[in-house]
Amino acid sequence: MPDERKPDPLLIEAAAAIRPRAYAPYSGFAVGAALRGADGQIYQAVNVENAAYPQSICAEAGAIAAMVAAGCTEILEIAVIADSPSPVAPCGGCRQKMREFAKDDALITMATTRSRAPLTMRMVDLLPVGFVKSAMEEGG
Ligand code: THU
Repeated sequence: MPDERKPDPLLIEAAAAIRPRAYAPYSGFAVGAALRGADGQIYQAVNVENAAYPQSICAEAGAIAAMVAAGCTEILEIAVIADSPSPVAPCGGCRQKMREFAKDDALITMATTRSRAPLTMRMVDLLPVGFVKSAMEEGG
């Protein structure tokens, strides 16, 4: 279900601005992602494909890696954009990667370069039952 809060327009702009740097010679599908870390910084990335297709990296994964490498481990909000008919939805793997660093209430905005309104949802609505660290706390 869509969230009523307004997404940060700077994040959508930052995702759109970085998108042309995508390395997507196999799919031809360029994706840009930008996230706001709890440190206040914006981290941007693009999808980086590989001749060995499964080795490709999604834009969201790159942005998360950049945030963590900078010493920040909390995503406040994230935006992703592609030239898709409807707002681009993060893949299941990326939802899980985001869930590691985003609280239930964090906003995820899906956008398209085409004339369609972005869609904003909460992390918990995008991945209602994620695998989390606490699942491993007892037992083994
Ligand atoms: N892709 C992303 O980078 N993020 C998404 O949210 C959807 C898919 C990439 C992976 C691959 O390089 C291309 O888009 C086509 O699947």
